[in-house]
Amino acid sequence: MRKPVIAGNWKMYKLLSEAVDTALALKPLVANANHYEVVIAPVFTALKTIADRLEGSNIHVAAQDCAAESKQGAHTGEVAADMVKDAGCSHVIVGHSERRQFYGDTDATVNHKTRSAIQAGLIAIVCVGESLSEREAGQAESIVQTQLIKGLDGLTVADTERIIIAYEPVWAIGTGKTATPEQAQEMHGVIRRTIAETHGADVANAMRILYGGSVKPENIAELMSQEDVDGALVGGASLDAESFAKIVNYR
Ligand code: PGA
Repeated sequence: MRKPVIAGNWKMYKLLSEAVDTALALKPLVANANHYEVVIAPVFTALKTIADRLEGSNIHVAAQDCAAESKQGAHTGEVAADMVKDAGCSHVIVGHSERRQFYGDTDATVNHKTRSAIQAGLIAIVCVGESLSEREAGQAESIVQTQLIKGLDGLTVADTERIIIAYEPVWAIGTGKTATPEQAQEMHGVIRRTIAETHGADVANAMRILYGGSVKPENIAELMSQEDVDGALVGGASLDAESFAKIVNYR
């Protein structure tokens, strides 16, 4: 059985005090959601404080990115995966479309970051997804397959236990335009079949595949009803504790 994951990506929002307030407000609201892996991803500067304040709770803390390099060195502005772990995180988001679009992450960088995350003992939430023009050109599947194959290149079967995939169609992120449950299911099926080809059927069956892109309390249930949708990566609707808790507790 695949344990569903509901992860909140806070992006570059919330000063430390606001982040702490939201995390503490969320804690009692999701305290009974033990059948889910609940994750929040605040900005780097809030990670340690939030992880400390949530210790003993069922909320996991994630960073939104980590360095490709795993060894300490002269990399101004970068934060290594083991430093993320050291700050109290258990997860890290890798290859988010905003990193790919605006900050130069390539499939090769995503692969290095994923390897670094696994090596540090983190769970990597690896994001894939096509743009609107790619979808309109009929390339959605091939783009996602390429991102997946290159992103997971060289990972062993054991490594894949530390991976979660997030399918986030770029055209659905922050646009209010959600993929239909059928569109989500179709691509999640493609992702699972691709993983079966690269890493075998057992790995594919065990892999959690999250949907992301304008997930809200109103649409979580129908997305989750799809066979291959194992959770959600939530942006905007995760910033408010009550709305995120409604998504976690959608049933
Ligand atoms: P959104 O963002 O829910 O605001 O569309 C999702 C994401 O970027 O992870």
